[in-house]
Amino acid sequence: MKIVVPGGTGQVGTVLRRALTAAGHEVVVLSRHPRRPGDLAWDGRTRGPWTDAVDGSDVVINLAGRSVSCRYTPANMREMMDSRVDSARVVGEAIAGAARPPRLWLQMSTATIYAHRFDAPHDEATGILGGSEPDVPDYWSYSVDIARNWEREQEAADTPHTRKVALRAAMVMSPDRGGVFDVLSKLTRLGLGGPVAGGAQYVSWIHDRDFVRAVGFLIDREDLAGPVNLAAPAPLPHRAFMRALRKAWGVPVGLPATRPMAALGAFALRSDTELLLKSRRVVPGRLLEAGFAFDRPAWQEAATDLVRRRRGGAEIPSRESPGAART
Ligand SMILES: NC(=O)c1ccc[n+]([C@@H]2O[C@H](COP(=O)([O-])OP(=O)(O)OC[C@H]3O[C@@H](n4cnc5c(N)ncnc54)[C@H](OP(=O)(O)O)[C@@H]3O)[C@@H](O)[C@H]2O)c1
Repeated sequence: MKIVVPGGTGQVGTVLRRALTAAGHEVVVLSRHPRRPGDLAWDGRTRGPWTDAVDGSDVVINLAGRSVSCRYTPANMREMMDSRVDSARVVGEAIAGAARPPRLWLQMSTATIYAHRFDAPHDEATGILGGSEPDVPDYWSYSVDIARNWEREQEAADTPHTRKVALRAAMVMSPDRGGVFDVLSKLTRLGLGGPVAGGAQYVSWIHDRDFVRAVGFLIDREDLAGPVNLAAPAPLPHRAFMRALRKAWGVPVGLPATRPMAALGAFALRSDTELLLKSRRVVPGRLLEAGFAFDRPAWQEAATDLVRRRRGGAEIPSRESPGAART
């Protein structure tokens, strides 16, 4: 297949490009700063020569968006929103204008669209979208607004010949440098991998190879459209999540952090505490119902595998993009 991947230079793009290329597909990445042979230039906002690559392609997987691992300044928040909404809109325009449109458009979304919640998991049918939780900082609703607007842009696109799926992805855990697993691993190996703010908040995650397998499954399953949760079936509280990561690295202790300590740490890492403190209890209802079987459904085994691959170092180039999740 010919697969076009706007924003495919970041963490998720690196995982996907590696797997799709190895499987024999032609992958065309769209980037604002193309560096590798075959990558095409775009600005993420306007149509240009890159739309020729969409015309006649089989699948488009749009990953573009300003990293959410940043300080939530007004300018950064605006860019987080605009980069996602604008890129989804212009990808939709390119597909709508294609003489031979792709049969599938996978649009990245996020598990963050769901409400901060502890009592029950969110699947696609019964999950509650966030934005009106009473007990969280007001600004958290902005991340939900971004996700809603992002998905709305895809829904609104007039692309009758193209199946559309919104990927409500949890944190994609890969051994590559600069990704979230790398950041958490560094903290853990420094002895800082303890629970944050009590550690009761849930962590949703997906192993990189299951993420790739789920994308392949969605490409094949022509009956699936609309929002699909890409998360392992067993999200777990942050405290247990970090305990398993410490065990995988063989680190006996992890210093716990209070909320103010987390705020300081996030500031130092040029990030925001929402990424750590929001309880994301998200499960893959539609994937399981459709018969998808996870290779790594449990975090302890997934973490052990990721540590083994990281130590082996075989497949782990540095991140390609400066727009990556920062440490
Ligand atoms: N990583 C995860 O675990 C995870 C989980 C759920 C959802 N997501 C979402 O999935 C997408 C991909 O994630 P990722 O971790 O691969 O992100 P990433 O490493 O930050 O890469 C995203 C890519 O988007 C492009 N980009 C950045 N700012 C842009 C802008 N203003 N306009 C247009 N393009 C821009 C960049 O490519 P160029 O600089 O080459 O143009 C960058 O490489 C993101 O939208 C993210 O929010 C990620």
